[in-house]
Amino acid sequence: MEESKQMSFLDKIDKSKSPEHVAIIMDGNGRWAKVHGLERADGHREGINSVKSVVEAASNANVKFVTIYAFSTENWCRPDEEINALMDLMVFAIRQEEDNLIKNNVRVKSIGDTNRLPEKTRLALEECEEVTSKGNKLMLVLALSYSSKWEIVHATKQLIRDVRNGKISEDDINETLFSQYLTTKDIPDPDLMIRTGGELRMSNFLLWQAAYTEFYFTDTFWPDFREENFYEAIVDYQRRERRFGKTSEQIESEKKS
Ligand code: FPP
Repeated sequence: MEESKQMSFLDKIDKSKSPEHVAIIMDGNGRWAKVHGLERADGHREGINSVKSVVEAASNANVKFVTIYAFSTENWCRPDEEINALMDLMVFAIRQEEDNLIKNNVRVKSIGDTNRLPEKTRLALEECEEVTSKGNKLMLVLALSYSSKWEIVHATKQLIRDVRNGKISEDDINETLFSQYLTTKDIPDPDLMIRTGGELRMSNFLLWQAAYTEFYFTDTFWPDFREENFYEAIVDYQRRERRFGKTSEQIESEKKS
């Protein structure tokens, strides 16, 4: 007897209404490692496999941008041993995945204070951005040495410089112009933000950009978060009504017109 195909959450997704941009706070690598009697670095290593799964799932679900919080400004305070392991792991992951990314039309872009990264990581990243620059199926944005407060201060300094040198005037400044000074310029704001690992906070991630983002929190540790978990989050998102400050009635009548 033929075995019945197991239902996937992917089948429940309306691909014409998929979120354009999904941002992810990958949390729980350390705790996953502890539960399995392993080192924290092993958790991060397994986390790379989740990144691969999610990139594939996003592509299947017609998501156009995925931003992952790979290393925060605050992560520089971790023990040197863990920072070094993470930086090496990123070089390894980037090198290992480069061909696959090109083949699957995935473009990689980094955001953050990447000058702080060790040279080997920065160079691997720059090379990856260069060789994947023609990818147009999905953009994978790696937030590295990133924090929102750093980004907003950095943008403000550049804005002031441009006012001083006469490139723009104070009256030109509005939300749209300010957004152009952020590292995420040309990237749409996230529609959905996923945080794994059970914590319910934003941890200095895309604070400006997430003004109207929907949140999805799960207890699942990042190394256990795979394709089906991603599809499940999209299905949950599609059940919600995004009102952007308007009433339900307004949204309904806009849909009809
Ligand atoms: C949080 O778990 C995870 C991180 C700080 C880093 C995750 C980074 C990767 C998986 C590398 C991705 C890089 C590329 C190039 C794809 P945690 O250590 O805070 O976990 P805990 O809260 O359980 O301690």
